[in-house]
Amino acid sequence: MSFPNLRLRRLRKTGKIRELLEEVRLSPKDLICPIFVQENLNSRVQGESMPGMDRLPLRDVVDEVNSIAELKIPAIMVFGMPSRKDDKGTSAFAQDGIVQRAISEIRKNLGNEIAVITDVCLCQYTTAGHCGLVKGDKIDNDSSLETLTKVAVSQAQSGADVVSPSAMMDGQVKAIRQRLDDAGFSDVVIMSHSAKHRSSLYSPFKDMAHSAPKFGDRKTYQLPYTNPKEAMREVETDIAEGVDIVMIKPALPYLDLIAMTREKFNVPISAYSVSGEYALVKAAAMKGWIDEKEVTLEILTAIKRAGADMIVTYFSKSAAKTLNEK
Ligand code: PBG
Ligand code: ZN
Repeated sequence: MSFPNLRLRRLRKTGKIRELLEEVRLSPKDLICPIFVQENLNSRVQGESMPGMDRLPLRDVVDEVNSIAELKIPAIMVFGMPSRKDDKGTSAFAQDGIVQRAISEIRKNLGNEIAVITDVCLCQYTTAGHCGLVKGDKIDNDSSLETLTKVAVSQAQSGADVVSPSAMMDGQVKAIRQRLDDAGFSDVVIMSHSAKHRSSLYSPFKDMAHSAPKFGDRKTYQLPYTNPKEAMREVETDIAEGVDIVMIKPALPYLDLIAMTREKFNVPISAYSVSGEYALVKAAAMKGWIDEKEVTLEILTAIKRAGADMIVTYFSKSAAKTLNEK
């Protein structure tokens, strides 16, 4: 028997053959584009820590979201910066809160042209800057749940398609599902930040969104990056609580956890490529040390290859532009 002449390079011979053989195909449809809306702002402000990302005034939101939709990106994730913070995070669930107003404007002007995902958290809205409410020197789980459910319902009332709890409070998915259903929003999707790690890669975001904690850190609620089994328990718990889409965050240094989730659970997976991941690429590109477009596609494809069904990324617009030109 003659040994077949195995030559894997046959499959890399020409551009068209390589296209035919592509196993993972990144598309603008895989992307979720974050936007930052700031209350009482008159014009766009460039984020110093996140070049290319702006803080938007309410009046610019519809135009910006429209330009995102035109790039064939199916969803945005809205973060709000209120002009007033208090110890209860009141402006996070006010019906005239900045996020609530932004969503209604988007809905009114763009209908269902884009899916609206909202961040459900308290850190931008509380004086302490923590993701939950503070009691004494602790972040109190159950009173935080109560407030988080109010935030989710107020966002659903304004027209959110998907709410995305990111506070890492125990029981947040169950509590929010219950309260949404009671309020008649059983069709609102929950995309939970299931395995959100305590990461130093969030710093540019905290500058951008004014959400840095005033005391302590987030180690009593966010996951330690040393504990993959614990991360899987968080995912498992969210599934048991009725989550629709889980999330692994950050993305690039956590590809193993994305792959592990893909293997263990039959649930849609989102990956959040965070501000620090964006900053690393941007800074190197601004120095001329890497090719920003190419590196971006490589990283996003790798995140998809690991098993993510969708990716929250600050590169959404630029990557979609590149992909649409291909
Ligand atoms: C807060 C929140 C953070 C991010 C998203 N929501 C910061 C934090 O938890 O400290 C970070 C996102 C990013 O870095 O891109 N709930
Ligand atoms: Zn938070």
